[in-house]
Amino acid sequence: MCGIVGYTGHRRAVNVVMDGLRRLEYRGYDSAGVALLDAGELVVEKRAGKLANLTEVLSGHSGLAGSTGIGHTRWATHGAPTDRNAHPHLGADGTLAVIHNGIIENFAVLRRELETGGVTFISETDTECVAHLLGQAYRAVSAERSDRLAEAMRRVCQRLDGAFTLLVVHSDQPDLVVGARRNSPLVAGRGDGENFLASDVSAFIEYTREAVELGQDQVIEVTPQAIVITDFFGAPAVGTDYHVDWDSAAAEKGGYDFFMLKEIAEQPQAVADTLRGRLTDTGEVVLDDMHMSPRQLRDIDKVFVIGCGTAYNAGLIAKYAIEHWTRIPVEVELASEFRYRDPVLGPNTLTIVISQSGETMDTIMALRHASEQKAPVLAICNTIGSTIPRESDAVLYTHAGPEVAVASTKAFLTQVTAVYLVGLYLAQARGVLFDDEIGDIVAALRKAPEAIAKVLTLMDPVRRLAESLRDADQVLFLGRHVGYPVALEGALKLKELAYMHAEGFAAGELKHGPISLIEEGTVVVVTVPSPRGRSVLHDKIVSNIQEVRARGARTVVIAEEGDDAVVPYADELIRVPHVATLLAPLVTTVPLQVLACGIAAARGNDVDQPRNLAKSVTVE
Ligand code: F6R
Repeated sequence: MCGIVGYTGHRRAVNVVMDGLRRLEYRGYDSAGVALLDAGELVVEKRAGKLANLTEVLSGHSGLAGSTGIGHTRWATHGAPTDRNAHPHLGADGTLAVIHNGIIENFAVLRRELETGGVTFISETDTECVAHLLGQAYRAVSAERSDRLAEAMRRVCQRLDGAFTLLVVHSDQPDLVVGARRNSPLVAGRGDGENFLASDVSAFIEYTREAVELGQDQVIEVTPQAIVITDFFGAPAVGTDYHVDWDSAAAEKGGYDFFMLKEIAEQPQAVADTLRGRLTDTGEVVLDDMHMSPRQLRDIDKVFVIGCGTAYNAGLIAKYAIEHWTRIPVEVELASEFRYRDPVLGPNTLTIVISQSGETMDTIMALRHASEQKAPVLAICNTIGSTIPRESDAVLYTHAGPEVAVASTKAFLTQVTAVYLVGLYLAQARGVLFDDEIGDIVAALRKAPEAIAKVLTLMDPVRRLAESLRDADQVLFLGRHVGYPVALEGALKLKELAYMHAEGFAAGELKHGPISLIEEGTVVVVTVPSPRGRSVLHDKIVSNIQEVRARGARTVVIAEEGDDAVVPYADELIRVPHVATLLAPLVTTVPLQVLACGIAAARGNDVDQPRNLAKSVTVE
C-alpha cells in the first residue's frame, strides 16, 4: 500500500529511485512520482497511472544528474488517483518535497488549521498537510542546526495521528533524505558511500543486502556516509541491522510471463524452506522459535487464528488441523472484525496471527488487542523484521522469499505448512498424539514439496480450461472439510484476478440456498477429498457433484490420481497426487491458482497488479 524509496550516494538518483519503484510497484499503482535534487534544484515529476507513465515523462528530461532523490508509487486513500493527488507533495514555498505511505487520521483538523493560517491546498490528500507543516517547522528550526530537517520532521511527527512512513528532501540539503515511521514499514539499506530508504528491501537489494530495520516512532537521517536514528523527541535510537539472505534475482520474473506464475512454480521450494530445520530425522517437530515453556504450552486452553484474505483462509485450515491433532478449541477470525466484537481471551489463549507482509493494519490492530488482553501472540509471517513479527511474542517465519504478485500463492501454501507445524508441535508438547502418529504426519509433510512439484506437471488441462472459461459469467467452488477453505481461496483468487463473480461454498451448504445460483452451464469447481482418508467425506462430495450436475452445472473436478468414482460426474477432470486428508490443501490449491491466473491472462487483465488492489494493506 504505497511504495516509497529514497536514495543518496554517488549514482544517478533518478535511476536508483526508478529501479526501486519498479520493484515496489506491487504495493500500489494508482500513480507514481519522484523528487530529485539536481544542482541545487528540486525537480518533481508525477503522473497518475502506472509507473510507465512517469518513465515516459522522465525520458523527456535532459540532465537529472543529481545523486539524491525520493520516489513514490501510490495506492489511493485520500483523493482520487490523479496527477494532482500523486506524490510527492511540496511544502508551501516549493523547497521541500514529501512522500507518504499510510493515513494521517487527524488530517482534517490539521488542514483546517493550515487553511485558516492562509495556506492554499492544491491536492485532496492528507499528505499535503505534512508537506506544509514541514515547511513551517523547517523555517522555525534554527538554520544553525545540522539536523534542521530531521528536527522539523520530529516536530511534525509529534502532531500526527495514524499510520505513516514519510520521506522528505529539501533543496537546501543536497545530500540528505529524512524519513520517519509509525505503524507503516520503513527499512534502510547500508551501502558503500551511499544509503537507501524503502518500504521494503526489494527496492535496494540490487545494491546492498545489508539492511537496518527501524523501530516504531523513529526519525532517520540518511546521507551518503551515515545513518542517524532518533525517536520523535530527538533521543538517539538504534535500528536493528540484518543481512538479507535472498538476492535481486529472487525479485525478478526470471523468464515467466508473470510474477504470479513464477511464484506458483516456486511453491515446492518455498514449502521445503518453511519446513527446513523444523523436522528431525526421528519424526519430531522442533519449533524453538515459539519461545513457549512446556508449562505454557500445556496451559493453552484456546487458540485464535487471525488474518485477512488469503491469510484468513490459511487460518481456516489451521482450525481443522490444530483441533484434530490437539483437541484444543480453535476460533478463526477475520482480523478486521476481531477487536470490535470484544473477543474472550486471556493468558492461556494462544493467538496466531498470519500475514505475508507483516504490515497489514487490520492484523496489527488485532494482534495489539490480543496483547492487551495478555494473550501470547505467535506470528506466522514471511517478511523479516516487519511490524507484525516485531510486535508479537514469537514468530515463525515462512521463508517463502519475496512475493511480488499481488495475489498470494506461495505465501498461502507456506502459511498452511506453518500452521501444520504449530499444530503438530502443540500435539507433541501436550502428549495428545502418539510419537508414531506424529512421525507419520511428519513423513507426509516431508514429501509435500515433491507432491506439489508433481501437481505442477499436471497443469496443462487447467491451462486449456482457463482459456475456455474466459467468458464465463461466474464460477462456483465447492469443498468439504479442508476443501472448504480451499474453495474460498479458489474463489478469492478468481475474483481478484479475473474480476469475475466467484463464490466458495462448503459443499454441504449448497442446498441450503446457493444451489439456486446454478443454471445450465454454470461452472462448478469441486475439490474432492481422498477416498483413502475419511471416505465418508469423499462419498458425500460425490453426491454433491451429482446434485449440481443434475441442475445443469458444468463440473470441474479436482481429484486424486486413481479416484475413479468421480469420473462419471466430471465434465473436466484434474488430477492431483495423493496426500493425507488434512494436508490436501497443499496440492488441491495449486490448480485453482493456475486456473485464476490463466482466466485473468485470457481476459487480458493485469495478472500481477489487478485493479484496485495493493499487495499490503496498511490502512484499516
Ligand atoms: C489475496 C491476498 C490478500 C492478502 C491479505 C493479507 O491474494 O493477497 O487477501 O492475503 O491482504 O495480507 P497479508 O498476508 O500480507 O497480511
